[in-house]
Amino acid sequence: MTDGLGAMWNSQNIYGPVVPRLRRVLAEAGTNRIIDLCSGGGGPWSRLCHDLGEKGASAPAILLTDKYPNQRAFQQMCAATGNVITFHSEPVDAMCIPPELAGFRTMFTSIHHFAPSEVRTILMDAFEQRQGIAIFDSAKRDPWTLLAVCGVPLLALWLVPRIRPFRWSRIFWNYCLPVIPFTLWFDGVMSCLRSYSQADLWESTAEFTSEDYRWEVGEERGRLVNITYLVGCPVRKEEREVPEHELEVAKSSL
Ligand SMILES: C[S@@+](CC[C@H](N)C(=O)[O-])C[C@H]1O[C@@H](n2cnc3c(N)ncnc32)[C@H](O)[C@@H]1O
Repeated sequence: MTDGLGAMWNSQNIYGPVVPRLRRVLAEAGTNRIIDLCSGGGGPWSRLCHDLGEKGASAPAILLTDKYPNQRAFQQMCAATGNVITFHSEPVDAMCIPPELAGFRTMFTSIHHFAPSEVRTILMDAFEQRQGIAIFDSAKRDPWTLLAVCGVPLLALWLVPRIRPFRWSRIFWNYCLPVIPFTLWFDGVMSCLRSYSQADLWESTAEFTSEDYRWEVGEERGRLVNITYLVGCPVRKEEREVPEHELEVAKSSL
């Protein structure tokens, strides 16, 4: 299933619209190391890691992690990207990240798996450790997204023979016994119903305010579906301090 999800995100470039924002917040946080949480089969990274490295930006180093790491999918992705993408083979719970995994945290299509108190735990840890975090979700509780989810089984059936490396088990579970297309559709509908709105996401950040950390919540427009995002980013000291000459201008205009 996570293979199918990854193939969908990458073939349709569903998460392409988040690239400029991700590139900007990585620069603001002063890091090029991404710790991806809840990575599943690798999600949209085979395409995003290439796109993030375009326009003069250096490609980030991406570490895939999951509570139930899919070693085979992770190994394939590492090999296919020449180790730009690597993985953590031990389980990593998004609510309890080991301190040695420092870097800008990302989560794709996963936040709706967590209850509101769990979402606050995830945000609190990023805030307290002053690590950046970017949460992106294509699932949304609206009629258009629910309609788009109905196209997911058809897209999966079209993509299956194109997923590499080829596996007969995929053919069986998609065409002979179409458990995967059905489960992708059912999971898609449930994900939309469980998704967080922008207002919900803002509310979860309410307890975590400080002048050296800021939050952004919004939606990126996509070709097929829009992407809801919540980004938390440490603010560096030089960005917090108002330059002397700007202070003078502000004083003189009073
Ligand atoms: C819907 S999949 C998303 C996979 C991938 N990010 C993508 O975009 O295709 C959700 C993933 O979250 C993982 N997961 C669930 N609970 C988790 C937790 N508490 N900590 C880390 N990963 C978790 C699951 O194992 C699963 O691989």
